[in-house]
Amino acid sequence: MERVCVYPGSFDPVTIGHADIIERAARLFDQVIVAVLHNPNKTGCFRVSERVDMLRTVTQGLENVTVDVWDGLLVDYVRRTGAVAVIRGLRGSADLEAEMTMAQINARLLPGMETVFLTAKPEHVCVSSSAVREAASFGAPIRGFVPESIESTILTRFDGA
Ligand code: PNS
Repeated sequence: MERVCVYPGSFDPVTIGHADIIERAARLFDQVIVAVLHNPNKTGCFRVSERVDMLRTVTQGLENVTVDVWDGLLVDYVRRTGAVAVIRGLRGSADLEAEMTMAQINARLLPGMETVFLTAKPEHVCVSSSAVREAASFGAPIRGFVPESIESTILTRFDGA
């Protein structure tokens, strides 16, 4: 039986750190579903369809990776897909604290649900979607923060902002 994992997130936008976690998850599991989880009551910077497009561009060469969208509870999506694990990246102790709480809540809502943490590469520890949005909004370069294939898409959004 195929072992499927779900990598959930806002991906607003996908960063070089996310892309690295996706590649590594794709080596560990048979199938990786990158799920853009969004709250319909909250507006992000990029539309959900734009986030999905960027994720598809970034994961183009990875045959066992698909991109999907979900606007409910993560546990419901995990149940629906039959995934054996949820993947989350950890950049440091602040992430660890928040992520452990989330993993424990999810395990209570769906007993048996496993969260697998992959530690960020040292060069990605300072990278976040919010840092990318802020840097780009002030016209700073974002090279090295996002995959090159989507750099211009992001910069175009903030052009003249
Ligand atoms: O990229 P992010 O913003 O760190 O991702 C967080 C996300 C979207 C994975 C998390 O907030 C989430 O799982 N949201 C869906 C709602 C949910 O299941 N919440 C946890 C139990 S209350």
